[in-house]
Amino acid sequence: MTGQGQEANTYAPSAEFAKDANIDAAKYDEMYAASVADPEAFWGEQGKALDWIKPFTKVKSTDFSLDNLGIKWFEDGTLNVSANCVDRHLATRGDQTAIIFEPDNPDEPAKHITYKMLHTEVCKMANILEGLGVRKGDRVILYLPMIPEAAYAMLACARIGAIHSIVFAGFSPDALSARINGADAKVVITADYAPRGGRNTPLKSNADAALLHCKDTVKLLVVKRTGGQTTWVDGRDFDYSELHAEADDTCRAVEVGAEDPLFILYTSGSTGQPKGVVHTSGGYLLYAAMTHKYVFDYKDGDIFWCTADVGWVTGHSYIVYGPLANGATTIMFEGVPTYPDASRFWQVCEKHKVNQFYTAPTAIRALMGKGAEFVEKCDLSSLRLLGTVGEPINPEAWNWYNDVVGKGTCPIVDTWWQTETGGHLLTPLPGAHATKPGAAMKPFFGVQPVVLDPQSGEEIHESPTEGVLCLKDSWPGQMRTIWGDHERFGKTYFSDYKGYYFSGDGCRRDADGDYWITGRVDDVINVSGHRMGTAEVESALVAHAKVAEAAVVGYPHEIKGQGIYCYVTLMNGEEPSEELRKELRNWVRTEIGPIASPDLIQWSPGLPKTRSGKIMRRILRKIAENDYGSLGDTSTLAEPAVVDDLIENRMNRA
Ligand code: WT7
Repeated sequence: MTGQGQEANTYAPSAEFAKDANIDAAKYDEMYAASVADPEAFWGEQGKALDWIKPFTKVKSTDFSLDNLGIKWFEDGTLNVSANCVDRHLATRGDQTAIIFEPDNPDEPAKHITYKMLHTEVCKMANILEGLGVRKGDRVILYLPMIPEAAYAMLACARIGAIHSIVFAGFSPDALSARINGADAKVVITADYAPRGGRNTPLKSNADAALLHCKDTVKLLVVKRTGGQTTWVDGRDFDYSELHAEADDTCRAVEVGAEDPLFILYTSGSTGQPKGVVHTSGGYLLYAAMTHKYVFDYKDGDIFWCTADVGWVTGHSYIVYGPLANGATTIMFEGVPTYPDASRFWQVCEKHKVNQFYTAPTAIRALMGKGAEFVEKCDLSSLRLLGTVGEPINPEAWNWYNDVVGKGTCPIVDTWWQTETGGHLLTPLPGAHATKPGAAMKPFFGVQPVVLDPQSGEEIHESPTEGVLCLKDSWPGQMRTIWGDHERFGKTYFSDYKGYYFSGDGCRRDADGDYWITGRVDDVINVSGHRMGTAEVESALVAHAKVAEAAVVGYPHEIKGQGIYCYVTLMNGEEPSEELRKELRNWVRTEIGPIASPDLIQWSPGLPKTRSGKIMRRILRKIAENDYGSLGDTSTLAEPAVVDDLIENRMNRA
C-alpha cells in the first residue's frame, strides 16, 4: 500500500489505450521477468528484430569489474545500420514518408521525404563523403541545423562505416574545434546558416573559426540552407549542392561488426573537459528501436515527433535511429517552441497529425507560462501519447501537460536515461503502468536498477528508500567506452561503486517499488534539459584575464530547471561592475556556447575552503539555493568569515 497522497495521484491508462497497447501489464511483468532471469535468451530473441548480414551467435559478453571492464553485445554479428533504417523498408513502405521536415519559418513549406527518397539522399551523401576520402572507421563531424541533411549525413556515415560525431549548432567555435581535434575528424559537415527562432546562426563562419585550430587536412562540406553570404576556402571547402548534382544515387552498404562504433557524442562530466561517449552499431540500434516501439507504443502508420535537436542523444535515438529502424514517420523540426509564437508546437501537431509527442519539461514550463489559449486554439485530437525527457518534471508542469495538452486522455511517459545509456532505462510503459506525476517509474526490459547507500555503497533492498542510482548489469544500448580514453571510462562510471554502472543521479524508490529521479549527485547541472559540467564553466571563467578564481553551482530556476550560479573572485586590482558581469557572461558564451551562459554572477572576495584548500561546494550550493540557514558543519573552514560575506551578497533571494 502507498500513502493516501500517492494513490490519489496515480493515472492509469484508459481502457481504450490499454486494449490496443503493444504491452499490457501482464505482458510487461512476463517479459521483464524473462529479461532479467536469462538475458542471453531474451536479447538473443529480441536481436532478431534487426537485419543482420551475418547473424550473431554470441549475445552478451559484459563485465563491470574494473580489472576486466568490457561491454560487448552480439559481437560476432555483422550488419549495416543505414540498411536497417532505410533499405529494408523499401519493399514494404518505399512511398511512405520517413521524415517530415518542418522549417523554422512556418510559411516555408514542409518537406515530406519518403523512404525511397531517403535512400537516394543517403546514398548520394555517402558517395560524396567517400569522394572526400572518408573510409570505414574515419570520423566525420556534423555541425548542422535541424535539416534533413543532418539525418542523411548520419545515415551516410553509417552506410560507409564512418563514425559521426554531432556537435550541437549552439556550440561555439572553440567547443567545435575541441571536438574536431578530439575525434581527429577528416571531414566537417556544416551549413551556411542555421535558421532558428527567426534568427540565423552563422555556422559556416563558426566552422571557419574552429578550423583555424585544426589540422589543415580537414575538409569542410557546406550545405547551403539560406544561401546567405559566406567566405570560401578553395581546396578545403566543398559545396554540397554541386557535389550532390553529380553524385551517384546508389551506394553499397558496408558490412560492419556489431561492436564497430556508430557514433561519438561529447557530453559534459563532473570533471575536466567533455568526454566522447562511444556507441556501437548492433546493440545501440536494437535498443533505440525497441524502446521507441514499446515506450511510445509505436504502431505502423503513426506520426512520431521528438522535439529534441539531433545534436543531443535524444535526437540520435528518437528522431533518427529508433523511428527509422521501425519504419516510422519522424518529424524534424528546425525551430523553437515559441516562434513565431507560443502555439508553434501545437500548430505543428495539428498540421502533421502527430500521434506521439516527446519533449522536455523546460519547454512545457515555458509554454505553460504563456497560457492555455495557445494550446486550445489548435486541434490536438491526433495525439495519443505524450513523453518527457531530460530532467525531473515538477507536478504542476506534469498536470498541465496532462490536462491542457493531453486532455486527460494521453498517457505521459517520463523517460529517464542518459547520453551514456543510448536509450530509455526507467520509464513507464504506457499501456502497462499507472503513472505518477514526476516518477520515471519502472525499468525497461533487461534493465536492473539498484539504489545504493552513498556512504557504504551497499545495495538497499527494501522500499521506500533513497540513495544513488546504479545499474547492476548491462543492456545493449550502453556506451562502450570514452573515445580515446578507456581508463577514464572505468574511472568515471565503474570505480565509485564497484561492480555497478554509476549513473551520477540520485533516486527514490517508493513503497510500490517505483523510481523517482531526484537529480545529479555530482558536479553536473541540468540547464533546460542540457547537461553542463560546472568544471567546464569554471575553466572558461578562469581563462578570462580578470578572473582569479571561480566556482560554479546550480540553483533552482523556474523555467530552466537549474540555472548557472557563478562565484567569481577577481584578480587583485580589478573592480567589479555591471559591465564586467556582462563581459564575463559573453566570454562564457563564446568559450562554450549560449547554453552555458551564467545566470547569476556573485563577486566573491574569497571562496569557502577547507584548511587543505578544497572548495566546500556544499556551502556554495546552499547559498545559491537561498537556503543559507542550514549550512551544516562549517568548523573545518579556513576562513569562516568568507561565508558571511557570501550570504550577505547572495544573488538569488527567491
Ligand atoms: C541526465 C542525462 C537522456 C536524454 C537527455 C539528457 C537527467 C534525463 C530525466 C528524467 C529526471 C532526467 C539525469 C541524467 N535526466 N532524463 N526523465 N527525469 N532526470 O541526456 O545530457 O546525457 O543528461 O539528465 O540527471 O543523468 P544527458
